[in-house]
Amino acid sequence: MDKELALAIETSCDETAVAIADSDGSILVSEVASQIDLHAPYGGVVPELASRNHSVDLRPLVEHALANAELELQEIDIVAATAGPGLASSLLVGDTTAKALAVGLDKPFYSINHMEGHLLSPFICRKGPIEPHVALIVSGGHTLIVQVAGVGDYNVLGSTKDDAAGEAFDKVGKLLGLPYPGGPEVAKHAEGGDISAFDFPRSMIDSGDFDFSFSGLKTSARYTLEKLASPIEGKLLTDFCASFQEAIIDVLVSKLFAAATESGTQLVTISGGVSCNERLRARATEAAHRANVQLQLADRGYSTDNAAMIAFAAVKRRQAGIVPSTLDSDIDPNLRL
Ligand code: KG4
Ligand code: ZN
Repeated sequence: MDKELALAIETSCDETAVAIADSDGSILVSEVASQIDLHAPYGGVVPELASRNHSVDLRPLVEHALANAELELQEIDIVAATAGPGLASSLLVGDTTAKALAVGLDKPFYSINHMEGHLLSPFICRKGPIEPHVALIVSGGHTLIVQVAGVGDYNVLGSTKDDAAGEAFDKVGKLLGLPYPGGPEVAKHAEGGDISAFDFPRSMIDSGDFDFSFSGLKTSARYTLEKLASPIEGKLLTDFCASFQEAIIDVLVSKLFAAATESGTQLVTISGGVSCNERLRARATEAAHRANVQLQLADRGYSTDNAAMIAFAAVKRRQAGIVPSTLDSDIDPNLRL
């Protein structure tokens, strides 16, 4: 059978993204038009601004992706879009555009869960089949541990009871007066800092389950900052960021490998925006070595929101025999895995 080409659109939050994958799961092109600069003055994503800009950016981005892949629109065999979770008005732009393309081309449409995109993204570079594994998804909106038996066969073992790990990074970045988004900024300032300078809580680390809670850590960071001379800078800022980051990573790594041990899996994966964090990558690599399990990290380029993971998920669903979505499929801002 000839290779099929899947074009995917991702507009769940503040990145407009388009990608094309072939049926082997190879990514031909992955384009992201970031709106970070636009939202930065507000310290977070403004939904109305996000959806308006998706509408403006999407068509040129599709054209750009096709041109970069040296393809004509008529050569596309499958169209996919993120159905949720995310901002309703943003999701609608990608969903309706992808459906219009599918109708115009008379090709199948796949409505994809953004979390499934993150979940399968480590396999973009791993190649080969989606093997059974235990996955940690850490993003700005979610922190989940999932047992994966195969494509479409997911068992959520635990999730956050309050803030997501990325959200905790972002909120503390804001408290520190760092630019939005806070995650990469806190990570940058943590470099060379003393991880034990501040004693931040490791909430739920011994709870015996695979759930998380990061709101206590955020509150503790706020109280600590209030006691310090503000604004903090230099070595104090570096130590604060390193200690804060370590508290999050301790819990993430501890829970992920406890889940791996309990399930007896030979493979763990980490994906989502926070998986860009170099300290998390290093700590997880050490832990995998100690636990004698394989670790597959999402490629940094496919960690934060992108459409390659959506195209990849569509291709994998099709290969697994999952039928296309109907054109009356709806978006769902609260879609669960
Ligand atoms: O997956 P993603 O792009 O969007 C969601 O689906 O939420 O994740 C974005 C999150 C943000 O909270 C951002 O601060 C965080 O990922 N992030 C990081 C790093 N890079 C991105 N957090 C910590 N360290 C990083 N290097
Ligand atoms: Zn995401």
